[in-house]
Amino acid sequence: QLTALAAGSIGKDGYRHYMEKELHEHPLVIGQTLQRMVDPASRRVLLPELPFDLAKVPRAVITACGSAFFAGMIGRYWLEEIARLPVDIDVASEMRYRNPPLTEGSLGLLISQSGETADTLAALRSLREKAIHIVSVLNVEHSTMARESDVVLGTVAGPEISVASTKAFTAQLTVLACLTIATARARGKLDTLAEEHLVSALLDLPSRAAEVFNQTDAIRAMAQLVVEARDVLYLGRGSMFPVAMEGALKLKEISYIHAEAYAAGEMKHGPISLIDRTVPIVATVPSNALFEKTLSNLQEAKARGGRLLVFTDTKGAERVSAIAEQMVVLPHVHDFVAPILQTIPVQMLAYEVAVLKGTDVDQPRNLAKSVTVE
Ligand code: G6P
Repeated sequence: QLTALAAGSIGKDGYRHYMEKELHEHPLVIGQTLQRMVDPASRRVLLPELPFDLAKVPRAVITACGSAFFAGMIGRYWLEEIARLPVDIDVASEMRYRNPPLTEGSLGLLISQSGETADTLAALRSLREKAIHIVSVLNVEHSTMARESDVVLGTVAGPEISVASTKAFTAQLTVLACLTIATARARGKLDTLAEEHLVSALLDLPSRAAEVFNQTDAIRAMAQLVVEARDVLYLGRGSMFPVAMEGALKLKEISYIHAEAYAAGEMKHGPISLIDRTVPIVATVPSNALFEKTLSNLQEAKARGGRLLVFTDTKGAERVSAIAEQMVVLPHVHDFVAPILQTIPVQMLAYEVAVLKGTDVDQPRNLAKSVTVE
């Protein structure tokens, strides 16, 4: 069992770095996390007993740091759209000083791989003072945050050794997806059939995630172009915007190339002036309701000399191939789970660029796995 292994005893299993090995564990950890949260026979989400009623929660406040924060942003899209629950979100280092007005009985959702990040822990404590229910999504279940939470929803990702988070991120998304379904059901926003439909999309995900690795050569070809750049722009819209943010963060962290993520529709309000042939544009564009809008944003960039490197799916591939210089085609999945699938190649791209640059992939300079100082 992955979770039973102690971190020190884990090898790289023939992979070049822990990060590469952990990227390849995405399908496994999504499946393991689902096993804990879903009954495959009835296709229903099963949460642990909660000491409060999800139906009565007036709003949620989400806080986290780094990649976990981007997982939280995707969680916000889901909770708002599917459960119709109002959500506030901020990075923990801001949330802890913001003193937002919160109704008693709101839901505080904290997300952390380690459960020890100082800013997230401080935010947890400041939310607790406001009589907020504290639910933490944690990978290390015997952590300080676990002890101080009302409920822990575990990500079953096993030990993550590489400083840059990979598999913990998709496991966090899997938990947030299940929490969204349970919340939507409790609030009367999801009937049994609709729940079965969303759960089926989740249960299908480990196999679809395994297919992403068939695209490794295409991702390596993209990496050849990105590695030459000084600046890279990442674009996405809707739930793909946080995926773009995760891609840009990962590239910065391990390859030391400057990257910015923008909501694709916002590009015309500033960053479009940066575009020329030396700034590659990495875009995440599966065929969803925002597909056409995002494509037209990309066309604007191309018209200004931008080189488009696009992650799409089998349904979007034909349209994307007309404008992209390079593309990676993933299996088409339900819109709900698409951000989980699309994250995998974006993280793989950062990994391949870092390998080409020859950086210390698992231990990037100036970074620590768990930041326990403010
Ligand atoms: C560090 C790591 C990031 C991670 C963040 C939050 O800054 O470099 O990869 O996302 O901490 O860590 P946590 O353990 O709270 O998820």
